[in-house]
Amino acid sequence: MPTNLKDTVTLHNGVEMPWLGLGVFKVQEGEEVIQSVKAAIQNGYISIDTAAIYGNEEGVGQAIKESGVPREDLFITTKLWNSEQGYESTLKAFDESMEKLGLDYLDLYLIHWPGKDKYKETWKAFEKLYKDGRVRAIGVSNFLVHHLDDLIATAEIKPMVNQVEFHPHLTQEDLRAYCKKEGIQLEAWSPLKQGQLLDNPVLKEIAEKHNKSVAQVILRWDLQHGVVTIPKSIKEHRIIENSNVFDFELSAEDMERIDQLNQDSRAGSHPDTMKVGFED
Ligand SMILES: NC(=O)c1ccc[n+]([C@@H]2O[C@H](COP(=O)([O-])OP(=O)(O)OC[C@H]3O[C@@H](n4cnc5c(N)ncnc54)[C@H](OP(=O)(O)O)[C@@H]3O)[C@@H](O)[C@H]2O)c1
Repeated sequence: MPTNLKDTVTLHNGVEMPWLGLGVFKVQEGEEVIQSVKAAIQNGYISIDTAAIYGNEEGVGQAIKESGVPREDLFITTKLWNSEQGYESTLKAFDESMEKLGLDYLDLYLIHWPGKDKYKETWKAFEKLYKDGRVRAIGVSNFLVHHLDDLIATAEIKPMVNQVEFHPHLTQEDLRAYCKKEGIQLEAWSPLKQGQLLDNPVLKEIAEKHNKSVAQVILRWDLQHGVVTIPKSIKEHRIIENSNVFDFELSAEDMERIDQLNQDSRAGSHPDTMKVGFED
């Protein structure tokens, strides 16, 4: 088990990825994102998860520079937006993201959503970026088992990471087992279901027993399931709270009770019906 914010999991290509990072979805470009990312880094976070569509890559880049932490000590993820899928358009979008971030290499680049018919062509561009040394690891996001099966059938390089919605209401057992079998690291987005789980009575009871918050219990549950997690907060006290998950352990019974909260319910879109950005 990881014991601090700098602990990492080894991806199948040998790259070390931190177990817990800061997400910046819906964090405003400018002061808000700069302050959040700086607060996280000052409090020991080394992993930041953004995306082209979040519109805050410049602020993330500025915060990285102003943090004073050496670039190579950080792990930065961004994602290719849906409208940019395709070979040439991916290469161009990558350059644009890098320009905004002000970085000369990226740690992890993800295909944000599968869509229907372009992800294989897009993946070829990802493989090129990887082979050219522009990005240390490449992966996907919101890929279901059938997308992964289809991609892996022809891919030269297997995705290192699959970032999906994952929380006690969406425990993704089949996908989790599949990714484990294939050596693809699962990463949780909306681990707190965007705040919708904080009043859950079972989680509250377990939290009280451990003298922890519900958010901390959920994030600990992610880690004990071997899932990388990236909670979002713009508030420094919560950024700190979300990182204090290394000093307690959920019992097998706690884990089981949390697993049983599953409802297969999502806060975000279903990967098979997500159309935003794919419409012409
Ligand atoms: N790949 C994808 O398609 C995808 C989709 C969605 C998200 N993501 C990534 O995953 C990250 C996390 O997901 P998310 O932002 O959707 O939701 P989340 O992390 O599940 O929840 C964030 C919400 O919870 C609140 N919160 C955070 N910590 C808290 C705490 N300790 N106590 C009480 N409330 C707390 C935040 O409010 P405050 O900010 O006010 O504290 C915010 O409203 C994103 O930021 C993004 O990087 C990826």
